[in-house]
Amino acid sequence: MQAVVLVGGEGTRLRPLTLETPKPMVPVMNMPFLERTLRRLKEAGIDDVILPAGYLPEAITSYFGDGSALGLHIRYVIESTPLGTAGALKNVEQYIDGPFFVLNGDVLTSLDLRAMMDFHRRKGGIGTLHLIRVADPSAFGCVVHDANGRVEAFVEKPPRDEAPTDEINAGTYLLEREVLDRIPAGRPVSIERETFPALIAGGGRPLYAFTTADYWIDLGKPEAYLSAHRHVFDGVMPLGLAPQVDGPGAAAVPASAIRPPAFIGHGCRVHPDAVVGPYAVLGNGCEIGPDAVVADSLLWDDVVVETGAQVDWAIVASRARIGAGARVTQGAVIGHGAHVAAGTVLVENARVAVER
Ligand code: GDD
Ligand code: MG
Repeated sequence: MQAVVLVGGEGTRLRPLTLETPKPMVPVMNMPFLERTLRRLKEAGIDDVILPAGYLPEAITSYFGDGSALGLHIRYVIESTPLGTAGALKNVEQYIDGPFFVLNGDVLTSLDLRAMMDFHRRKGGIGTLHLIRVADPSAFGCVVHDANGRVEAFVEKPPRDEAPTDEINAGTYLLEREVLDRIPAGRPVSIERETFPALIAGGGRPLYAFTTADYWIDLGKPEAYLSAHRHVFDGVMPLGLAPQVDGPGAAAVPASAIRPPAFIGHGCRVHPDAVVGPYAVLGNGCEIGPDAVVADSLLWDDVVVETGAQVDWAIVASRARIGAGARVTQGAVIGHGAHVAAGTVLVENARVAVER
């Protein structure tokens, strides 16, 4: 079985994090998110992976190479202009030789891919769509199906009060190769807005819905990205990490500074009078000064938090510096290499980036 992981999106909703780091390389517990997805595929016995990319592709290709370090064979197909979620599949048609998985590159889930394969074989449809139930379906693709699982309608991002169901497209499909015949070549095509609705309207071999109650989150927004870490720390999302998530660098920092749960990367320097946690992730090489507080936040690599600064419910990209006494809280996102001047108090949902 092959898998196509869609990794060409620009990650606009995660800016400024994605100005330098493409969304699939955004770290979850200090590991690029895409690496977690690829490891899941390998565990499910899928080792032939195609990555249609386009936005900052070198960050992806240079990290994973040919995939052999993960026991995978990875092929990259770079789009010079974005082809959309179905256009990207049409563009890799020549490499696909049978039924194949398609994964949205920004979804974190505990879905059992093998169970989905069994379901797909049993139903014998042209495709199977993984669905989950959410409180607000309007931000997603809404999928209506009958009692037998046969998909009757696919409505991408309906107005809030017009969502026909609370079951949404969770971004994992298992498709028969013939779906590719139904995608026009040479122009951008959306699988959600064009291909699925056309397959349903065409009345041919049906699409089936595979609804599960798995852990599931789309990491494409800062708040979801932060929440996902809380879920991992709390064990709601089983990531295959040790229950006491403390990271490779935990032993090297003063215990007096740690309020569990926290994850500490390699080579961090934390002052004994700092507070790290609860729910804090430090990447590699971070430096936390005296009386600084980092709680409920994600720091990437080489971040410096100076004396008495507070970082709470915030995301700080690599090489950023938070000046003494500054307050970076309430959903703030700080871009790569940005400096928050000493004493600054950021407003809710602030975005700080180096000018480019
Ligand atoms: N190669 C390539 N080319 N990939 C793309 C392109 C493209 O032109 N456009 C988007 N992608 C990738 C993104 O990188 C992402 O991994 C995935 O396709 C989905 O795009 P998003 O931009 O994240 O879409 P969304 O989150 O608004 O909605 C999608 O995901 C929801 C579930 O998370 C839709 O599939 C919804 O129906 C679904 O509910
Ligand atoms: Mg998304």
